[in-house]
Amino acid sequence: MQPAKQEPETQTDIDMKDIVALCKRRGFIFPASDIYGGINGFWDYGPLGTELKNNLRDYWWHRMVTCPPIGPDGHPLQIVGVDSAIIQNPKVWEASGHVGGFSDPMVDCRETKKRYRADHLIVFIPDPSLGVDKLFAFHEEATNEEQEKRLKKFGVKFEGKFIGDTRRLENCLDQLDKILAPDAKEVGTLTEPKEFNLMFETYCGPVQSEDNKAYLRPETAQGIFLNYKNVLDSSRVKMPFGIAQIGKAFRNEVNPRNFIFRSREFEQMELEWFCHPEEAKKWRDFWFEERQKFWRDVGLTSDNIQMRDHDSDELSHYAKEGLGTADIEYKFPFTAPDFGELEGIAHRCDFDLTQHQEHSKTKLEYLDPERNNERYMPHVIEPASGLTRGVLALICEAYTPDPDRPSGVYLNFHPKMAPKKAAILPLMAKGEQPEVAEKLYMALREEFSVDLDIKQNIGKRYARQDEIGTPYCFTIDDQTLEDQTVTVRERNSMAQERVHIDKVAEYLREKLRG
Ligand code: GAP
Repeated sequence: MQPAKQEPETQTDIDMKDIVALCKRRGFIFPASDIYGGINGFWDYGPLGTELKNNLRDYWWHRMVTCPPIGPDGHPLQIVGVDSAIIQNPKVWEASGHVGGFSDPMVDCRETKKRYRADHLIVFIPDPSLGVDKLFAFHEEATNEEQEKRLKKFGVKFEGKFIGDTRRLENCLDQLDKILAPDAKEVGTLTEPKEFNLMFETYCGPVQSEDNKAYLRPETAQGIFLNYKNVLDSSRVKMPFGIAQIGKAFRNEVNPRNFIFRSREFEQMELEWFCHPEEAKKWRDFWFEERQKFWRDVGLTSDNIQMRDHDSDELSHYAKEGLGTADIEYKFPFTAPDFGELEGIAHRCDFDLTQHQEHSKTKLEYLDPERNNERYMPHVIEPASGLTRGVLALICEAYTPDPDRPSGVYLNFHPKMAPKKAAILPLMAKGEQPEVAEKLYMALREEFSVDLDIKQNIGKRYARQDEIGTPYCFTIDDQTLEDQTVTVRERNSMAQERVHIDKVAEYLREKLRG
């Protein structure tokens, strides 16, 4: 009797260690400076990771700029792109609020010398009936088992569940002297929270003085606001319209973690959508829908994505007024069963343009010919997503353990996103088969990203393609020489069918259209 086929594992069961290992083994993502032992918070993209990231980037650009969505009135939206400098005049970051306010509250542990974001620590307060006089701080990502083990070690009785209360550290600051920090042995070792600015600083020119200080941009958005007037003056866009940008951003994150989820150098894909203040709600609703659709179209299943409105205490300085912010969240294996942010959709009101108008003394109001020459400061709806975080979501979603195949796992990428669309595999490495394979490869390579793989046994070659997520393998065998048909193996089902060699390009075109 065949053993029952194991159900695919859920996001909760999938181990990030396996995903990180596959990414390295197959050339998706490597630790930066790997041969020197790495550098915390920085990652390099290998041959396949670069292709995957470019596919997501190009598809976003296509959907936003080249072929923008149809708006609520049935007409295509006007969206143009920019590519601004990473280093800008430092006054930009004073105006935007980043120099003064872009910080996280930090606490240090005097005993372990570890540093934590204060808002990431939770405190367990045992019920007085337990007779325990300590409070226990945990990182918010500590698993139930880790918490249980530690509490038991300190003699907190466990009968089915712990009896007590949990609070955020910021609500227990008056009891710091009773709190046991994570990994610490003595109580009272956590310091008062201190604000820590996330901006990376550098100097322009040979003199390292305050006057020459500059910053690496922490978001691509400001480069858009800086060019708002130039774009209006140089192109024919009219309100409402959007400016899009994709590029690197840098944040000196205190605890970079979870692989590429939170890194110090990353890439963003941001749209600033400018509109009349009265129309902000209409456009926010539009972008909520449109952006969720985008993530579903690149292959994230509905069950693994959700929208979540920010609570009032989470709102950024620019979103405090107005309609608030909602996140599109993905159920990453390290957040499951909870979700982690993938994209934020914020109503930035007129905060940024007003600030830049004031600080630069340049008029940025819009004179609207369609509204009787009304003069107003446009409001902004901002769908801001992480390109590199999106890549991680695609990889986590695609990672499918399957004990029934030699690789033990395959990457179920949407064909549009897959780094390689197809592989051409002759069964024999010698004779006529490799010649036919090479001819097919030469016919496909200008249109599709395809692999030609001639050597090794076919099982190993399929295993490699499964692990890198190639959706179709075309195999050339003896029958090909007789009737010019090749076998197509579909990655997920492993089902095989024969198609005529002259129809392979059309077959692929059709499959990639979806
Ligand atoms: N302009 C608005 C803005 O930057 P954000 O929520 O700070 O908003 C937008 O960033 C997106 O950028 C996030 O949803 C996330 O996908 C990505 N992101 C932010 N910080 C990141 C980090 N340290 N590492 C990787 N991605 C990050």
